[in-house]
Amino acid sequence: MFLTESESQALESIAKEIEAGVDIFHLQTSCNINSKTLFNSELAYTFAAILMAKKGNIDEAIALLNRASTCPFSQSLSVYLGENRTLTRKAKAFSTTVPYDVWVQSPFYKRFKMGTISSLVEGLPSPPSSLESRPLTVIDIGPGNGVLLRELLERLHARHSFGKLHLVLIEQSQAMLDAAIEHLRLNALFDVTFTRIQSFVETLDALALSKFVEHGAVWFTLASASIHHMPKAQKIETASKIRMISPVLAISEFQGNHDLTEADSPELICSVVSFYGYFIQDILRTPETPERIRECIEGLPLSEALTIIGNSRYSRVDYHTTQDQWEEILFKAGYSSVIAKVTVHSDERPVTYTLLAE
Ligand SMILES: C[S@@+](CC[C@H](N)C(=O)[O-])C[C@H]1O[C@@H](n2cnc3c(N)ncnc32)[C@H](O)[C@@H]1O
Repeated sequence: MFLTESESQALESIAKEIEAGVDIFHLQTSCNINSKTLFNSELAYTFAAILMAKKGNIDEAIALLNRASTCPFSQSLSVYLGENRTLTRKAKAFSTTVPYDVWVQSPFYKRFKMGTISSLVEGLPSPPSSLESRPLTVIDIGPGNGVLLRELLERLHARHSFGKLHLVLIEQSQAMLDAAIEHLRLNALFDVTFTRIQSFVETLDALALSKFVEHGAVWFTLASASIHHMPKAQKIETASKIRMISPVLAISEFQGNHDLTEADSPELICSVVSFYGYFIQDILRTPETPERIRECIEGLPLSEALTIIGNSRYSRVDYHTTQDQWEEILFKAGYSSVIAKVTVHSDERPVTYTLLAE
């Protein structure tokens, strides 16, 4: 999906040489030769560097990364390896709000947010009728700092002018949940109440979920950039539990191939390098201090990328999935209609998309 067959073969031949223990000079020559086959010629060096770092050859890995001088991912990884001498991540994503607070100011996040909001405002059905005294319920899985949800609700309110709203927020991080509630309360434009659930959504059973939505008719459930934190089977199970309590599931996601791909495979590493490279390049453009930009890069894209690259398939934490894989998951979860819309493109390729499943 991110690589053609001949590109995968070129990178696999580099992996075999690393396995056979060739020295750095031979490896650089091999990267140089194989780079001619690749759409992104620097990828051969980054691929070899990651495999070398995984074997503990940190100096060789840095030397290889420095040959990929125009790749933002490789350059960030080179600095990180120089300082930490390991591929193990230093920061856990979403333990504090700072990385997210920085990222939401970046040009890419703003395009992602606006694309998501526009496609949902256009595509969501009208809210179900609710008794005057009962609020309408909206569920958000992983609201983060609440910035996207608040703007979405404001646009939906302008279009549908609903009365009271009850928000069910399911968020695994206490820091993010507190930030979301504070942001939504401070900026509320209408009467809103909350059920706050600090939990991983996949650990909640159908009975627990049904109790959270007793306040009034559920309009829709939003999972924006949050439901990729689980592998395919769990995505299907979670989406089917949501279907029991909510007539519509709106997903906004990133185009990545981090779920079904094998550890150390050319496809996985290429997907990580191009996806997080795009992410890091964007963060470098935010109007923030160098210290906060660094905290954002280390706390969000680099932390996630290192976890994907460094772990087996079962403990990757992030499982970004392609749009067609998501469509298949939603049909398997029992939805009968899925409408997909690409929200951000780069070089003709989709980077983010929304799916409305009913
Ligand atoms: C990338 S942020 C997205 C925030 C917001 N929805 C947006 O689109 O801007 C992902 C959020 O989902 C939360 N999250 C990740 N996995 C989760 C899970 N399995 N259950 C609940 N929350 C989760 C994270 O803690 C984080 O706050």
